[in-house]
Amino acid sequence: MQITFLGHSAFSVHDGETTVLIDPFLTGNPMGAASADEVAADAILLTHGHVDHLGDTVAIAKRTGAPVQALVEIANEIAEEGVEVIDTNFGGTAVFPWGSSRAVPAMHTSTTPTGTVTPAGGLVIEIGGKRIYHLGDTALFSDLALPGQRAKIDIAIVPIGGHYTMDRHDAVVAAALVGADVVIPCHYDTFPPIQADAAAFKADVEEAGHAQVVVLAPGESYDAG
Ligand code: NI
Ligand code: MN
Repeated sequence: MQITFLGHSAFSVHDGETTVLIDPFLTGNPMGAASADEVAADAILLTHGHVDHLGDTVAIAKRTGAPVQALVEIANEIAEEGVEVIDTNFGGTAVFPWGSSRAVPAMHTSTTPTGTVTPAGGLVIEIGGKRIYHLGDTALFSDLALPGQRAKIDIAIVPIGGHYTMDRHDAVVAAALVGADVVIPCHYDTFPPIQADAAAFKADVEEAGHAQVVVLAPGESYDAG
């Protein structure tokens, strides 16, 4: 099972057969590590509707035929483009041939480029025998602990850039709340307001004993076993 960082908040998860894309903002992404014209997808999962997450979703879904999981209002908007959608709301689980993805709350706003307003979420994804919690864009809040109380989180994908999300210091507390074995930071260094020192975040989390932190450069993969 490989988790590849595609830059910003975009990830590709590959279990050997299936490729799942999360928040595929590639075109116009200064850190984008894949082309929307070429990236593989058997499913696309969205945390929320901001353009730096929705990104190339519709184009990739049309090219690949991949279904898109998104919060219901965002899903309805995407469906009008002729894309297959799974319109879960918070607490809902989308079930796929390769595993599942549960929509959970985040503390953030979300408006799509065409004006659909919704809350923002995170995703708890089960694939290849691993449980991955992509926190989406979020501030620090105590409910980040809840998915791990239901079932142990193996890998957490955590925003650290500040300004639009929690910063790297709040993200250390988030790592403790989530309780994952491995934390992968994201949503930093893409734009000037969200510069962050990922090495310092790694040191803080590991010195506190919260998790192992894997810092990926765009295009790099973590082998989750
Ligand atoms: Ni956002
Ligand atoms: Mn964002």
